Amino acid sequence: MTKRLYIETVGCQMNVLDSELVVGSLRRHGYELTHEVTEADVILFNTCSVRQHAEEKIYSALGRLRSHKQRHPSKIVGVLGCMAQKDQELVRKRAPHVDIVCGTGQLSRLPELIAEVERTGLPQLALSLDRAEASRPEVEQSFESYDPLRDPSMRPSPFQAYVRIMIGCDKFCTYCIVPSVRGPEQSRHPEHIAAEVRQLADEGCKEITLLGQTVNSYKYDSGDGRRLRLSELLGRIHDTTGIERIKFITNFPKDMTDDLLDAVRELPKVCPYLHVPAQSGCNDVLKRMKRLYTAEYYRDMLARCRENVPGVAVSSDFIVGFCGETEESFQRSCDLVREAGFKNSFIFKYSPRPGTKADDLYPDDVAEEVKKRRNNDLLAIQNAVSLQDHRARIGQIVEVLVEGPSKAALKRDSGSGLVQLTGRTMTDHIVVFEGNERLVGQTVEVMVQEATAFTLFGTVVTEKRVGFLPDGHRSSDRDGQPGKKTDRVALPVI
Ligand code: 5AD
Ligand code: SF4
Repeated sequence: MTKRLYIETVGCQMNVLDSELVVGSLRRHGYELTHEVTEADVILFNTCSVRQHAEEKIYSALGRLRSHKQRHPSKIVGVLGCMAQKDQELVRKRAPHVDIVCGTGQLSRLPELIAEVERTGLPQLALSLDRAEASRPEVEQSFESYDPLRDPSMRPSPFQAYVRIMIGCDKFCTYCIVPSVRGPEQSRHPEHIAAEVRQLADEGCKEITLLGQTVNSYKYDSGDGRRLRLSELLGRIHDTTGIERIKFITNFPKDMTDDLLDAVRELPKVCPYLHVPAQSGCNDVLKRMKRLYTAEYYRDMLARCRENVPGVAVSSDFIVGFCGETEESFQRSCDLVREAGFKNSFIFKYSPRPGTKADDLYPDDVAEEVKKRRNNDLLAIQNAVSLQDHRARIGQIVEVLVEGPSKAALKRDSGSGLVQLTGRTMTDHIVVFEGNERLVGQTVEVMVQEATAFTLFGTVVTEKRVGFLPDGHRSSDRDGQPGKKTDRVALPVI
């Protein structure tokens, strides 16, 4: 009999990808996905530890399951990912009905762990080594990369996919739990990455997003003294037939090298979009965060991005209320957001994480209300900047990869068969427009007519599909210049 699997995922794109891979592997073991938790034989939570709030959400979801598990003791409950690796036995202390605790580096063992619970009824713990507990090679091995065959049906969309190019992080920013829950930085073999991209393209995937905690730190030692970097990896996968867009997230400011920016400029399928978290605009705070750069360095890096990649869109992350952040230091972050022209920024209130340097060294001395106020203030500044950025695009024709019906309005235009669709430009701007549902998965040209801080609104200029010809030239290049990626000024449409 087919067994049913329910999986809930919180956190970053890395977790979304991990869940996709877990489902793929369990499908091959006879499981079928259900969206009803009460119908499932195996209930999994893929968790995040970056902020306390994300953990609380999971513990309350587990609490809600307690009586269900009491009534159906044969159902298996598993906690996967970052919180599993961080809390270890504590997960079962807080939620004794959990059968499996499986860290980020042990996910490939999941089918075996489930079988073991079925066989013995005993709880199973699968965790990687603590970074302070063993030698680097041993720890690295215990965080084995988990990239088995993909399951296309678990992707956010059939024509978009994440591809992991590295795991772990070696930066040790003082506030961040990631280096301990995702282990040492390890880059994947370029040929494995290229093969996965080819497989995804064969399955109809058009856009791939390369993933790494610090994706631009990618380096693969080929053994003969040569070191392959992200710029070269992009070159290697660029000509994969069928792939039309390549993105990569998340970047570390100090590793934004010129060769990478040259690759982004020169390779037409690589999106001119860079997510480069600044975290703060104040040097004292950056120092306590151990970000390894100053606000001046960040500004120079940004200038280099804009100079080397004309039309590039940059987005950022900020933490407000980090230990010792004064009103003056917060104002430095406000100044940076005002000046930098970010497309958007994700803003987070500092959340102390046990096990991090910041939690050991510095008191969490900014009051919650102050964190809240600073969060709102910085967001308001960013929204004004985003609105300006968006308004400047009114009148332009942009290429949009259509992702699906927009969330807000599945409203059908009476009789015309049109639906409100949403998609993204090469610069990662969200565009909403009316069109036929069959455009989903296609790249179309849209004339931008209106803008809010979050969305561009427009109309389809032509339904002619925009894409790449086998020779790498864009099929819609009006001026015959492959590689020209900046959005064009609107031409009259006949
Ligand atoms: N508190 C708040 N935000 C954090 N981030 C990472 N750790 C913390 C923390 N302890 C934010 C950073 C990072 C994003 C993914 O999450 O801004 O870039
Ligand atoms: Fe965390 Fe810093 Fe690594 Fe990003 S670079 S994952 S913030 S330690």
